[in-house]
Amino acid sequence: MEVIKVEGGHPLGGEVTVEGAKNSALKLMAATLMAPGVTTLTNVPNIADVHVMGKVLKYMGAKIDVLGVHTLKIDTSEVDKWETPYHLVAQMRASTAVLGPLLSRFGKAIVAMPGGCNIGARKIDMHILGLEALGVKFDIDHGNIHATTPNGLNGTVVTLDFASVGATENLMMASVHAKGITTIDNAAREPEIVDLANLLNEMGAKVRGAGSPVIEVEGVSEDLHPVEHRVVGDRIEAGTFVAMAGLAGGPVTVKGFEPVHLGLVLKKFELMGLNIVRGPHQCTVSRKGSIHSIDIQTLPFPGFPTDMQAQTMCLLAQGDSSCVITENVFENRFMFASELQRMGADIRIEGHHAIVHGVQKFSGAEVKSPDLRGGAALVMAGLVADGVTTVSDIHHIDRGYERFVQKLTGLGAKVERVEVPDPEIVD
Ligand code: EPZ
Repeated sequence: MEVIKVEGGHPLGGEVTVEGAKNSALKLMAATLMAPGVTTLTNVPNIADVHVMGKVLKYMGAKIDVLGVHTLKIDTSEVDKWETPYHLVAQMRASTAVLGPLLSRFGKAIVAMPGGCNIGARKIDMHILGLEALGVKFDIDHGNIHATTPNGLNGTVVTLDFASVGATENLMMASVHAKGITTIDNAAREPEIVDLANLLNEMGAKVRGAGSPVIEVEGVSEDLHPVEHRVVGDRIEAGTFVAMAGLAGGPVTVKGFEPVHLGLVLKKFELMGLNIVRGPHQCTVSRKGSIHSIDIQTLPFPGFPTDMQAQTMCLLAQGDSSCVITENVFENRFMFASELQRMGADIRIEGHHAIVHGVQKFSGAEVKSPDLRGGAALVMAGLVADGVTTVSDIHHIDRGYERFVQKLTGLGAKVERVEVPDPEIVD
């Protein structure tokens, strides 16, 4: 199996350019199902999840040409299936993002129920309730969701219990061809939602208010038409490198994203003592003094993003006093903390709260990636730990970070991917 080995004690310096956003690219790919023809997506990250979404689209009959690594030409004219297979949904729950597009194009869909994952149950009840309000009928059997629209899709007002990113996206896409106006209230406001709405409007849809809590979609009868679209920069990949520079030194310039998409994160990092100079599509990060401990609570955008929680905990674990991190989005997203404790961190978990007492040093250890962001944060901790840190289960990291080791090496880190024998399973 492959692991990432990090030798601590080497400060970071230089510049790194992030890719297009994983959490936008996957939905933009799904949305191409709504525009029969060849859509070209540029600035697509070359990561495992994108490859899985490619398999989902090909399973349905799409043809995909990869041009120059970060450009996909997706031809959905021959798509003749409206079903996603369990083994692909099980690999990646974001496959459920095809639900809205399939209902829009075919008026029906069969999507495997996504399983849970390490960070929580990941239900889709809000997707289902919202789509039922539009007239979708659901039968769930043998782990598959069978969706039909016996009376078509009819616009209405849907108020989400929680500003769910996935539910907002599926409702936005399903309502593109609904009769009349659909209003999504308490909608998610993430920049990836705005990127998807921009793509849909470029294709001929009429989506207003994306980025605000109220999104209005005016149903159109014509098919959407294929376009060329550039994926928005990945604010979470960028935030990960900003946090790493804040922990391991700097100055590091992180390029390819919009600092305004990390508004609250950069503000909190400055309160923690990082020096951040914002520029067009970039920011430069350094730190002179100690890391100041401050409380953090995760919330939907523009609140503090849950996808930056582990990386921020890593910083605060070396804070100058104590603080509380509250995780309000997922029910089980503190596994990273248990691994970081193996490296000497002093963290106590109490339900949705993590009480973090800053320590001077981490010590290198063998640790296991609990999920995508936790894995990246363990490599981050290894950058400043005494000795060598070995991170396993790095397939989690490969799901969302392209050329992660190469980018870190380019910044002066001593990091490498190493093939090691699978651990002996002792009975
Ligand atoms: C998206 O997941 C992202 N994934 C996640 O990023 C991100 O953490 C999350 O949004 C929040 O920002 C992709 O875009 C592929 P939600 P999503 O619907 O859409 C509960 C990463 O690391 N919920 O906003 O699944 C849900 O269980 C990943 O890149 C319901 O209960 O997030 C969670 O606790 C991790 N019922 C909370 O709401 C529903 O019907 C937020 O989920 C839907 C969601």
